[in-house]
Amino acid sequence: MNKPFDIELGQLTGQTSSLGNALTALAGQHATFFLETFGCQMNDHDSEKVAGVLLSRGYRQVETPEAASLILYNTCSIREKAAQKVFSRLGEYREKQSEGKVIGVLGCVAQQEGEEIFKRAPWVSLVCGSASYSKLPEMLTRLEAGNHRVTGLDTDTDETFETEVTRRDNPWRAYLTIIEGCDKACSYCVVPYTRGPERSRASDSILREVQQVAELGYSEVQLLGQTVNSYADPTPRRMRFSELLLAVADVPGIRRVRFTTSHPSDFTRDIVDAIEAEPKLCDHVHLPVQSGSSKVLQAMQRTYSREEYLEKIAMIRAANRPIAITTDIIVGFPGETEGDFEETLSLLDEVGYDSLFSFKYSPRPNTPSLAMKDTIPEEEKSRRLGVLQEKQREIQTARNAVLVGETFEVLVSGKSRRENQWFGYSTSHRVINFASQAKELLGTYVQIRVTGSGPNNLVGEHAV
Ligand code: SAH
Ligand code: SF4
Ligand code: F3S
Repeated sequence: MNKPFDIELGQLTGQTSSLGNALTALAGQHATFFLETFGCQMNDHDSEKVAGVLLSRGYRQVETPEAASLILYNTCSIREKAAQKVFSRLGEYREKQSEGKVIGVLGCVAQQEGEEIFKRAPWVSLVCGSASYSKLPEMLTRLEAGNHRVTGLDTDTDETFETEVTRRDNPWRAYLTIIEGCDKACSYCVVPYTRGPERSRASDSILREVQQVAELGYSEVQLLGQTVNSYADPTPRRMRFSELLLAVADVPGIRRVRFTTSHPSDFTRDIVDAIEAEPKLCDHVHLPVQSGSSKVLQAMQRTYSREEYLEKIAMIRAANRPIAITTDIIVGFPGETEGDFEETLSLLDEVGYDSLFSFKYSPRPNTPSLAMKDTIPEEEKSRRLGVLQEKQREIQTARNAVLVGETFEVLVSGKSRRENQWFGYSTSHRVINFASQAKELLGTYVQIRVTGSGPNNLVGEHAV
C-alpha cells in the first residue's frame, strides 16, 4: 500500500523559510545541487538515480556545497559511527541555510531518525528515506514552493525506485537495483527498518535498463539488492534469479555480470549452474557468513547453521570453474565467547575466502539484539578484529601467491600516479596492477599475466 508522503503538520503547509529559499527563486533555471553519499553500493546507486531526477528537472550538479542551492546527504546507519558522521556533517552546514541554501537528508539515517532530524538540526528542510524516493519529484515541488519541513518516511510500500534518467558515476560498471528492502530479520541489522520490505522489480524493466546501459557503452553490469538472490519476479514470467542472470548476460554488448549481496539461505544450486554455463557471469560470489559459530548465528537470526553454510560453499567449490568467494564477518556479537570466535577463525581456514569485510558489533536502535547486553568490551572486540584480519591476511597472501604465472582478463579502471602504471579488476574481482606503455587503456579489456602478488592485490604485465 502506498501512502502519500507526509508533510509535518503545524510547521507547514505553504510555509516559506523566512531566510529565503534558493530553490524558490531558481528551480528549473539555475538551481544547483551537491550530493554526498555514505554507505553501501545500494546507497551509491540510489544517489545516481536521485541525481538523475534532479538533472531531469533542470538542476545542475556541482562539486562543492558552497556552489549549491540544494545540499543533499544520502546517509548510512549500519553502524553507530556511520550515523554519527551524518550529524557532525550536518553541524558543519548549519550556517549554510542562512545563506538561503536548502539542506536535505536522505537514506537510512533519515528513515531511522525521521523528524528527530528537524529537532536536532532545524536547518534541515527535507528528510526522506529510500522507500519514498519514488515520491521525490513531488517532494521537490514542495521544497521549490518554499516548504521548510518536507518528509518522506513511509516504509509501507510496494514500489521500487526507477528513474527516466540515471546519472551514473562509474564509467565502466553500471549498477542496477533489482530488489529493494529486506524481509530477513537479522537481529543486529537496521536495514529492514530503514529500507522497508522486500520489493522485486519487474524482470522486463530490468532487462530494458540493461539494454539501455549496453547501448550507452557499458559492458559490465552489477545487479544490486541487500538479498539479491531472494529476487522474485512480480511479472507473470516469474523469472528465477538464475534465469534473470542468464537473460542479462544475453543482452548484446554485455560482457560481465556481477551481483551482490547473496544471502546464504537463498543461495541455490541453479545459481552455480548458471555461472558454470555462462562465462559472462563473473566467477565471484559474495556470501556473508557473519560468524562461524552456529550458536551465534542462531542469536543473529541468520537462518542457517555453520554446517548449512559450509554445504553452500561446497556447492560453489564443486563448480567446473573456480569461483572466488568473499564474505562479511561481525566480531563481538553479544554472548560471543572465545570458543565461538575460534569457530569463526577455523571457518576462515575451512573456506579460504579471497577477501572479507569485518566489523565490530555495533548495537543499533530498534534491532532485536539491542535487548541482548553488548557484553564484549570494546578492547576485546578490537583484539578479535585484529586477530581475524591478520589471519585473513595470511590466507589471502597464500591464495594470491599461487596465481603468479596465470593470465587474467582485466577491465582497466584506473591509472596510478606512477607513470605507465594501471589497475583494473579481474572477473573474480581481484585488483591487478600492471605496467603498460599504451597511451589509453581506461575502460578497455586487456590480458594481464600475473608476475607478483600481495595480500590485497596482484601485480602483472600486459600480455600482448
Ligand atoms: N544484506 C547483506 C549485508 C548488509 S550490511 C547481508 O545480509 O549480508 C553489510 C554488513 O554490515 C553485514 O553483512 C554485516 O557484516 C555488517 N553489519 C550489519 N549490521 C551491523 C551491526 N549492527 N554491527 C556491525 N556490523 C554490522
Ligand atoms: Fe540486514 Fe540480514 Fe537483511 Fe542483510 S539479510 S540486510 S544483514 S537483515
Ligand atoms: Fe548503510 Fe543503509 Fe546501506 S544502513 S549499508 S546505506 S542499506
